[in-house]
Formats: sequence, C-alpha cells, structure tokens
Amino acid sequence: MATIHTLDFTVKVDELQKTQFLAKTYSDELSSNQVLLEIDQFSFTSNNITYGVVGEKMNYWKFFPAQSDYGIIPAWGFANVVISNHPDVQVGQRFYGYYPMSTHLLVTTNQVSNKGFVDNAEHRQALPPIYNFYTNTAQDPSFSTETEQLISIFRPLFVTSFLIDDYLAEQNFYKASQILITSASSKTAQALACLLAHRKEENTLNWNLVGLTSKKNVEFVKQLGWYDQTISYDSMAQLNANEKFTVIDFAGNHSTQLELQTLLKENLVYNCLVGLVDWQNLEGESPLPKKGEFFFAPTQAEKRQKEWGLSGFQQKVGVAWQQFMDAVQSKISIKEHIGAQGLEQLYSDMLNGKIDPKRGNIVNLNG
Ligand SMILES: NC(=O)c1ccc[n+]([C@@H]2O[C@H](COP(=O)([O-])OP(=O)(O)OC[C@H]3O[C@@H](n4cnc5c(N)ncnc54)[C@H](OP(=O)(O)O)[C@@H]3O)[C@@H](O)[C@H]2O)c1
Repeated sequence: MATIHTLDFTVKVDELQKTQFLAKTYSDELSSNQVLLEIDQFSFTSNNITYGVVGEKMNYWKFFPAQSDYGIIPAWGFANVVISNHPDVQVGQRFYGYYPMSTHLLVTTNQVSNKGFVDNAEHRQALPPIYNFYTNTAQDPSFSTETEQLISIFRPLFVTSFLIDDYLAEQNFYKASQILITSASSKTAQALACLLAHRKEENTLNWNLVGLTSKKNVEFVKQLGWYDQTISYDSMAQLNANEKFTVIDFAGNHSTQLELQTLLKENLVYNCLVGLVDWQNLEGESPLPKKGEFFFAPTQAEKRQKEWGLSGFQQKVGVAWQQFMDAVQSKISIKEHIGAQGLEQLYSDMLNGKIDPKRGNIVNLNG
C-alpha cells in the first residue's frame, strides 16, 4: 500500500485575503467506485474570485469542502486518472470539468458512460448537475491538446456570453442605439463583444457597441476590434446621454453604476447585471436610482433548449464557439503558473485586480 500526498489551496470564506495550503494523504487502496484524479491544469480569471465573493450565497463552497472557516474555490480544467477502483474508468483517461484548486480530486461515481462520469459524492448531490459531470476528452472531438488551455479559460465563460447576445437580440436590444459593456477588457466581455460584432455585421444592425474600461486597458480593448468605441471610466461624460442605452455590467462597481444611471436617466432602457469583478467596490453610500436586472443564464438556456432541442442548442453554441476561438487566439497569450508559490502569487494579484487582460492564466499546482 502506498500513500498519495495532495495539496488543497484554501481561502478563508469571510476574509478572502487569508489563504492556507492544506496537505492531505490518501491510501492508494480506494473504496469501490472511487477514482483519484491528478489535476493537470486549471484556468484562473476574475470569475473564480467571484465564486469566492458569492460563495456563501450561491453555494460555491459546497463543491469541495475544506477545514472549518475555509473553502476551496472551484476552477475549470483538466485532470488525469491516477488510481481507479471503478471498472469503467481507466488509469490515464483525461477528464475536463469543475475541479478544486488542488493537486488532486477524489471522486465517487456510479454513473459512467463513454462520454464521461458524474461525481456522486454525497455533498454534491444538491448542486447543479452541470458542475458534477466530467467529460472524457478522448470521446469529444472538440478537445485537442493545442486548445486545452483556451478551453479552460474561455469555455466556462462563453456560454453566458452566447446567452446574453441571444437574449438581447430576441429583445431587439430594447430598441437601444448604444450597447455599452463595462469591464470591457474582461474575458466574458470579450466573448460577448465578439458575438455582438458578428451579429451586427451579419444583420446590418446600426447600434453602437461601446466598451467601458480602465484607462490602462483602453488600448487593449481598442485593438480587440470588436467594439465601435472605447471609453475609460473617467471619460463617461463623453457618452451621448440623449441616446437610448442597453448596459451589460461585468464590473459591479457601485460608483460606475451610479454615474451611468445618473447620466442616462430614463435613457438607460435595460441594465443587465452579470459580473462583480470590482468586488471591493460593490457598495456605496448613495443608493442607486434603479436596480437593474440580474442575468440568470439558465433561464435563457432552458428556453432555447426547449425551442431548438438540446442538440440544436449545442450545435449553435458549438458553431459560435468555434468562430470565437478562431478570433480570440491571436489576441491573448497564455501564462502558466506552477506550484504552490505560483498559485499564491496569482491569487493575490487576481484578488487585488492586478490583471493583464492580454493574458490567459493557467495553473498547475502539481508542477
Ligand atoms: N452570471 C454568470 O453567469 C457569469 C458568467 C461568466 C462570468 N460572469 C462574471 O463576469 C465577470 C468577469 O469575469 P471574467 O472571468 O471574464 O473576468 P477577467 O477576464 O478576469 O476580467 C479582468 C478585467 O476585469 C476588471 N477587473 C478585474 N478585477 C478587478 C478588480 N479587482 N477591480 C477592478 N476591476 C477589475 C478589469 O477590467 P476593466 O479594466 O475593463 O474594468 C480586468 O481587466 C466576473 O464577475 C464573473 O463572475 C458571470
């Protein structure tokens, strides 16, 4: 019998600055239907910080329980089976899915097909099934070694962008002549801007797509080529408040919302709340004139899956995803962060908003 040493990156749930690595050991003699995966890589964007910020409210801490007062932030990535005590899961198989920020994940499964398996661990039963499924990469032609890193980074974000674009088009963009996206440099915003730019070109639509971003990211957002206009947060007075605006908010910053709402008044025809990247500035003293609407992606997904059928839905997402992959590949460069020190530094930078939007961050804690 051998001992496997593992490491979890845990954060204090009510004080995200505090972190701890937790070392654990497993015997290589697993119980029936248990599988041990070694996590090879996972992506890290502000979306993972948001998992931590709303972890309590949205149950994100429940996926991978940790020591008292601490939690493990989930992340999307790839892992290889290193030990299996399930007859249909083989050592060496590679799975894409929702992993802890850890070196390993021990799962228990009694639902295995050639497409993948479900983690049936007790503590995951009440959580949304989409997060509990692990895809067998060998059986899915959309996976290739060359695109794995881009898949880890963008795939979890892309479907939300697809659904926002689809929803806005369905609503005829609320008859706005200006579509404005905050945190325009974020990866989810990039995907949305790319989709909207395509739609605009294909359907000769005449709204103006505005990217609102930090001064330091203006050049990056401009060179993406998907926004018609790029404005920094300190130049919002340039917006033509006589036009009708639909806003998609990834920033979550209270004062940006207040400024936009005060400037645009009733010309803010739809205020779509999606992101919370600026998590330390979500609240402010002055109340917001109106609240905006939280975008709940599953509602639009379910509607379209009913109308288009599941395979029709997947096919449309797949085509759009491929177009986006082709368009975004040249815009970002991948940076790998290796080992405990690499992850700790990246986490601290992400938490404090020290983010280079040109960069896609991939972590390998086993390195
Ligand atoms: N509800 C959903 O279904 C759903 C789905 C996907 C994503 N989201 C949310 O959308 C947001 C974007 O996620 P992402 O992973 O795409 O982000 P990302 O690519 O990591 O975003 C990076 C950008 O966000 C802004 N930013 C990040 N951290 C900041 C901070 N601490 N203070 C101020 N600005 C900060 C900066 O943009 P600027 O300079 O341009 O402001 C930065 O360039 C997240 O809150 C995520 O949870 C929600």
